[in-house]
Amino acid sequence: MTGAGVVGTSLAELRRLLTRRTWSGTDRVVVITGGAGGIGSALAARLAGRGASVVVVDRDGERAAAVAAGLPGPGVHTALDGDLTDPAQVEAALAEVDRRHGRVDVLVNNTGMTSAERFGDRSLASIEQEITVNTLSPLYVTRLALPLLRRSVDPRVVTTVSLAGIFPQAETPIYCASKFGLRGAMLSIALDLHAEGVRVGSVLPSATDTPMLRREAVEGGNALQFQGGPPQRPGDVVDAVLSLLDRPRLEAYPRPAESRLVRLSMAFPNLLLTLLPFFAGKGEDGRRAYLEELLHRGEVARDGAGWVLADPTG
Ligand SMILES: NC(=O)c1ccc[n+]([C@@H]2O[C@H](COP(=O)([O-])OP(=O)(O)OC[C@H]3O[C@@H](n4cnc5c(N)ncnc54)[C@H](O)[C@@H]3O)[C@@H](O)[C@H]2O)c1
Repeated sequence: MTGAGVVGTSLAELRRLLTRRTWSGTDRVVVITGGAGGIGSALAARLAGRGASVVVVDRDGERAAAVAAGLPGPGVHTALDGDLTDPAQVEAALAEVDRRHGRVDVLVNNTGMTSAERFGDRSLASIEQEITVNTLSPLYVTRLALPLLRRSVDPRVVTTVSLAGIFPQAETPIYCASKFGLRGAMLSIALDLHAEGVRVGSVLPSATDTPMLRREAVEGGNALQFQGGPPQRPGDVVDAVLSLLDRPRLEAYPRPAESRLVRLSMAFPNLLLTLLPFFAGKGEDGRRAYLEELLHRGEVARDGAGWVLADPTG
């Protein structure tokens, strides 16, 4: 391509990035993995509200069915029960999507887990499981969904990564490993598929008030994530996903100021050991305040000096 051609293409791309259109869900098929969870169910409701047909996939089939049943029309919504760490179950779920809809317009990779067990106590099996849930499973789903995405006129892949995909957390190193890997994979896949028109982007939330975070707070996981104030709501992450659909780009950060701080600090990783202790106290205070709020909401109970979830299945 000539120099003028490169400039022209870059200007067209810049214009596209700066133009915000409202993504319409009308006649669109959206598959949300982990769709029964806190962020997934909020996203399902909002995308159904934009007119999409939503397929809620989750290993918790009962919750997935309840989420799908509660979604507004005019789309046709489905719940699929499946453990997406098992390639055969991924294939079966996507075969069902193919049978019902014949294509996928938007794939949202949103399954995830974390464990607050400290690294020195982790079994090798638990390390493998977390990496499989958080990194391999979204890659299996994306790879196997590609033929269905290629049948769309405007194919999109959105992945819920995490700021833990940029920034280390002493208490949850495997979560960080899984999300660093996922971020790198999704950025690379985005570059690879861009030429054929598949838009791939990720959202990188920080602490969000969902069952995952409530469990982590009770089990004593990462405290630093609470130093910036109360956790955001699932709706804040949904806003970021919608912004990616409205204006496709590689990444969106639900809390931009926090993400800028994190990205800047990672330019100087050797300062982490010196700097992080200054934020530790504020993080612990934030976690305590969050647990008090959960107590007030009836989501947790005191258990001696510690805390337990009011509904351990939640
Ligand atoms: N909550 C937070 O603070 C936070 C912050 C950053 C990123 N995230 C990411 O957001 C995503 C959604 O998390 P959430 O906070 O809504 O958690 P959540 O626990 O409410 O939801 C996760 C859902 O994934 C499902 N799931 C887990 N493993 C699965 C598997 N193998 N097969 C099928 N379904 C499976 C669970 O059943 C659950 O419904 C995750 O990827 C998480 O890592 C969460």
